[in-house]
Amino acid sequence: MKVTVVGAGNVGATCADVIARREFVHEVVLLDIKEGIAEGKSLDMWQTAPINLYDTRMYGSTNDYAKTANSDVVVITSGLPRKPGMSRDDLIATNAGIVRSVTENIVKYSPDTIIIVVSNPLDVMTYCAYLTSKFDPARVFGMAGILDTARYRAFLAEAINVSPKDIQAVLMGGHGDTMVPLPRYTTVSGIPVTELISRQELDAIVDRTKKGGGELVNLMGTSAWYAPGAAAAQMVEAVIKDQKRIFPCCAWLQGEYGLKDIYLGVPVKLGRKGIEQIIELKLNKDEMELLNGSAKAVKEVMEVLDGMNQPASK
Ligand code: NAI
Ligand code: 2OP
Repeated sequence: MKVTVVGAGNVGATCADVIARREFVHEVVLLDIKEGIAEGKSLDMWQTAPINLYDTRMYGSTNDYAKTANSDVVVITSGLPRKPGMSRDDLIATNAGIVRSVTENIVKYSPDTIIIVVSNPLDVMTYCAYLTSKFDPARVFGMAGILDTARYRAFLAEAINVSPKDIQAVLMGGHGDTMVPLPRYTTVSGIPVTELISRQELDAIVDRTKKGGGELVNLMGTSAWYAPGAAAAQMVEAVIKDQKRIFPCCAWLQGEYGLKDIYLGVPVKLGRKGIEQIIELKLNKDEMELLNGSAKAVKEVMEVLDGMNQPASK
């Protein structure tokens, strides 16, 4: 089994490192456009193998896609990260150009691969990879929900003083301030979270989760990478090992939740074929309203991309 991670920056390198340590593939190729960086980081990671005790082979490549040939899964992390004051949507023009050219190369060398997009603005970059690849959308999806849910679970674990392992939750919608955490579907080992925390504290955590990416950008001057890299690696593992895990992922909707022709975060089953099922929760009126609001915000940015893809009028 072979995985390629495109973009050897903060998120890409972290994702490659997590995949290598978990030993569920034979080979990880890290590719970047910047001369030498992917080769350097893969060599450095490979030199941790005798210490961290793994034997996954690590290879680096400066924009040579021949080295990525026949990858089973490709993770796209190439693109600019957010800087303070920037929204994820500000990145659209630059990152769409990058994601398009990367996807063209991936398709050429790995026509049967599964593509997991991480670059922002996430929902729209996933749409961009889908349009460019012309793959079945079951094979093109995005990582955001696992990260956003992990932030929500981590905040809850701290507030309730329990292990984060015991918090199950689901979060839907776009990867942005309109995301929809679902307290009604949040439990601590099966106990509804509302029995363990006040409504006021829960609302504050939901609000902090929605701004979770921005909180880190403000602290570090760039966006996060440990949790994003680990989240993308968890999706790769679910696919490679055909785990049939249920995760919130950015998926192409064709009528589910009453939404059509849109990439949006929803719970899905991930296995060897990619998205094997989209799970439709019975949302109540308020939850549905929030999801529709999020879908509207994502659709507006998708339309910006559609506009950029139109031939220029004379
Ligand atoms: P980074 O700047 O550390 O790394 C990006 C890498 O992409 C750089 O090494 C750059 O040389 C490379 N790159 C640029 N153009 C390329 C091309 N055409 N081909 C190959 N490589 C290319 O950025 P970081 O922090 O790793 O973030 C990467 C992306 O992931 C950003 O768009 C960021 O906003 C997004 N992100 C998304 C998250 C999510 O939840 N979906 C979470 C965190 C980050
Ligand atoms: C994050 O949520 C900025 O999308 C990036 O950390």
